[in-house]
Amino acid sequence: MSDVVVHADADALALGTARFVSEHARAAISARGRFAIALAGGSTPKGAYRLLAGHPFREEIDWRKVDVFFGDERCVPPDHPDSNWKMAQETLLSKVSIPSAQVHRLAGERDDLGVVAREAAATIVSVLGGSESAPPRLDLVLLGIGDDGHTASIFPDCVPIARGPALFARVKPASKAEWRLTMTLPLLNAARAVAFVAAGAGKRAVVRSIVKNDRDPPFPAALVHPADGTLTFLLDRAAAADL
Ligand code: 6PG
Repeated sequence: MSDVVVHADADALALGTARFVSEHARAAISARGRFAIALAGGSTPKGAYRLLAGHPFREEIDWRKVDVFFGDERCVPPDHPDSNWKMAQETLLSKVSIPSAQVHRLAGERDDLGVVAREAAATIVSVLGGSESAPPRLDLVLLGIGDDGHTASIFPDCVPIARGPALFARVKPASKAEWRLTMTLPLLNAARAVAFVAAGAGKRAVVRSIVKNDRDPPFPAALVHPADGTLTFLLDRAAAADL
């Protein structure tokens, strides 16, 4: 079962997403003393990240108790304009008091990406507990949706490896020039909450198919449904137009 929340436009969606993150952060910190979030890459979440870096969200969230992970990363240097870490660093992480040791960057610039994926899995297990067979539970995973129905870096031709059991994988999507690192479905589906964030008329058809799960084979994003968690679609009116 999923929840669909529709906001008037991209700006309202950004504010709604920031509020959604803040609510989950405060609830997790109140319940368990910490908040572990996986950030989405791409462009859609930028507005929400910028709002989270400012009043009132910067004060509302105790960033010292937050661990930030990345749903995926492009395999480029961290100062490359395509780096998801760079985008999050510039819009949010450099502006809040989160200890740098609690920002778990995926080192996509390294050559040994298989090792990086295994190290990322070991890190999240060391921070959150769990194991490959009982995946760690993130409090919130933010995800975008691509025009081809991908999410994180689970592209249509990367679904087999994304089924796990590894918690992170290196993938080379045919549609992309670069390798990617991505959280896999077992890790995503262990989350306490997952929220897709999508905006714009260009996403309306793929959003409808994912929400309705009416496609065979399903889009990769439709394979994300937390076993024991909530699933929310945070949309603007344009992306929700076919619902
Ligand atoms: C990435 C993202 C990817 C993104 C979608 C949507 O690294 O590109 O993780 O899954 O969320 O492609 O991207 P936009 O928000 O730019 O439309």
